[in-house]
Amino acid sequence: MFKRLPGDEARNLVSTTPDTAVVFRPAVIKTPAIFTIVILAWRMFAGLVRTIWRHPIAATIPVALGVTWYVYDWPMAASLLGTVILALASWAYIDRASFNRLIGYRLLAWWRLTWIYRRHWQPVLIVSGLGRHIRGRDYLPRLGKVTCTSWADQVTVRMLKGQPVKDWTDRTDHLAQGFGAASCRVTLTQAGHLTLTFPRSDPLSEPLPALSIPIEPTVGPVEIGTREDGRPWRLKVHGTHVLVAGATGAGKGSIIWSVIRSLLPAASVGLVELWALDPKLMELSYGRALFGTRYAATPEECADLLDEVVAVMQKRAARFAGLQRSHTPTVDDPFVLVVVDEVAFLTAYQSDRQLRQRISCALATLTTQGRAVGVGVLAALQDPRKEVMNIRNLFPDKIALRLDESEQVDMVLGDGARDRGALADRISPVPERGAGVGYVRLEASPEPIRVRAAYVSDTDIHAMVDAYTPYGSAA
Ligand SMILES: Nc1ncnc2c1ncn2[C@@H]1O[C@H](COP(=O)(O)OP(=O)(O)OP(=O)(O)O)[C@@H](O)[C@H]1O
Ligand SMILES: [Mg+2]
Repeated sequence: MFKRLPGDEARNLVSTTPDTAVVFRPAVIKTPAIFTIVILAWRMFAGLVRTIWRHPIAATIPVALGVTWYVYDWPMAASLLGTVILALASWAYIDRASFNRLIGYRLLAWWRLTWIYRRHWQPVLIVSGLGRHIRGRDYLPRLGKVTCTSWADQVTVRMLKGQPVKDWTDRTDHLAQGFGAASCRVTLTQAGHLTLTFPRSDPLSEPLPALSIPIEPTVGPVEIGTREDGRPWRLKVHGTHVLVAGATGAGKGSIIWSVIRSLLPAASVGLVELWALDPKLMELSYGRALFGTRYAATPEECADLLDEVVAVMQKRAARFAGLQRSHTPTVDDPFVLVVVDEVAFLTAYQSDRQLRQRISCALATLTTQGRAVGVGVLAALQDPRKEVMNIRNLFPDKIALRLDESEQVDMVLGDGARDRGALADRISPVPERGAGVGYVRLEASPEPIRVRAAYVSDTDIHAMVDAYTPYGSAA
């Protein structure tokens, strides 16, 4: 009745010890077929109950159709099915967002769970070395829920007991290839549980036009672009210092200009002062008029301007001493933002040693003492190595745009950032696809997120100058 199964071979196995004639034969106990059938039937029944419990709506639909067919015959069931499909299609046509949120992404998640993740789970995990094969048995991490968002699949996983997260972060490439995604990010959600994020599409592949200038004066966090999850990317500038690292053409200018753009209303009412250092003469000079006299280009001018800011900061600190420990921008004590493009030109690549030391010393003073008195530094540079920027750790917030080498990612975003998915070295060098794209760490979480800054074109900068110069020069 039953075909021969591999288990039947056990009785033929014979093993001996190498140097004696002791022979071992396994004791074979035959299990009556009925036991196996009962166990399989029980498993099927338990699986059915579990499916109905977990997916009541999905289970109700075939049951309702079946009952209708049985009671009213098939034409009634077919018209009921047609009505349901038509209603869903109309919903999707009229309001795609709510349809996707409530139905579309759930269906997609179910499909991708069964067709991609469950189907490939065992081979991918064994080949990547995340499963274990011990004494003939496969031990696999448990695949949990799949949730779909507009751009990615999020897969929850229960790790094997005793497995380190590093095993997973080291194998993001295997996982991405195995499940047909462009990349994979690993997030530890709770002890022993991970969420793997597999992007399905790149929502940041199109350049983003400059955002509109805020109506209300604000000192931040300022909106400067979009996050990968579709939410606005807001950058804190007041109460911190920001370092932007990116290879040439990575789009550092778009971050600098987006920040300046959103601070203009506040600058026009005197709540913000913008000081600009443009040693390369290629970036901030475009909107020079916005900064009035607070603009410097030659290294000597830059050193003088920085010394001036340090003096402002120290005077303010002396006034605040013992009275207040944090800064609220007012017209008398505005938030001072020092914007430095290509900071390495002033520090590492400056041939005049004395000037170099003066500038480095002023920058270190500002970044160590400026935060609480309302002085912030926004600096951009191409090469984040310690030899080039020895004060990079004095910047609490860092942004990694496209970088040349994978090791530079951790230098900017901190240890382990690249393992957690900040692939800044893989951002496209084609400006339309990759300029302004980068990774940041948000305050609350160690996970890097992918962002794209809005592109402030030359025309936008000229328009900003036209609209705000009268106030800028008066400030
Ligand atoms: N956010 C953006 N979106 C789309 N394209 C951008 C963006 N930012 C910059 N670009 C494009 O990339 C080019 C280079 O940008 P940018 O000058 O800002 O780079 P950079 O990082 O300052 O380079 P460098 O270090 O050489 O000054 C720009 O001319 C522009 O065409
Ligand atoms: Mg530049």
